[in-house]
Amino acid sequence: STIDSSIPPLKPIYEPKDASAPRNESPKLAKLISTLQLQQHIEGGYFVETDRDVNRVPNPFLNASPSAASNEQTTFYTSTGAVSANLSNKLTEVDPDKNKDASKGEKTRNASTSIHYLLTPESPMGAFHRNRGRTIHTLHRGRGRYVIIHADEVLPSYDTHSGIRGKARVETFIVGHDVEKGERLQWIVDGGKYKSSFLLPLEGEEKDGDGLLISETVVPGFEYSDHDFMRVERLEALVTKEQADEMRWMLRK
Ligand code: GUN
Repeated sequence: STIDSSIPPLKPIYEPKDASAPRNESPKLAKLISTLQLQQHIEGGYFVETDRDVNRVPNPFLNASPSAASNEQTTFYTSTGAVSANLSNKLTEVDPDKNKDASKGEKTRNASTSIHYLLTPESPMGAFHRNRGRTIHTLHRGRGRYVIIHADEVLPSYDTHSGIRGKARVETFIVGHDVEKGERLQWIVDGGKYKSSFLLPLEGEEKDGDGLLISETVVPGFEYSDHDFMRVERLEALVTKEQADEMRWMLRK
């Protein structure tokens, strides 16, 4: 893999379908979807909001861009260690959403929201997107792979192709129950990072798995105005050409 030499290239195990294509879930998954009252998610997969805290907190994202969820600092890795820099003007060149007024002036937010989220063989991928809020994920069932693009952590300019700056750190890990093999039961994604996920079969299982069922809690609570999808131009600006080639299938169609 161009992302992590210890793993094979990222490729779909279960082919993602068009959003409009009919889905033919197994009886077991169809029952789970109806029991939990899951709806199709625009990212792919299914979800239901299980909690929305009525307690409201000051909106921490007022006048903030999605790429700078908690601060305007970008971390660079150099031979002598990590350094941070205020890059607010340079980032504008590679972040077309930078000046988008996405916070819409809401003065407060629900303190947190929680969802169940399910990937299935018929809807096996959550497309690359980011949220301003920090998300805590917990595994219930199944196995999957996550890919995180740390748009706020820029590596040295090993690829000068873009001519603007270095490339973002890309991270990938498996979520699953085999903790002895390094699979994760819980994972945290800070605000402003791009995230994608896809279903993996259980060890020894063929392609008729029971899906990947997790819970996610976002702080402060989820709002569409904090959410946006990765576009192909942004992916190509953030990572090397080889990495983009490996990850393009994880973009929303
Ligand atoms: N509505 C649409 N997508 C989401 C989401 O990811 N979380 C919550 N809480 N609500 C949503």
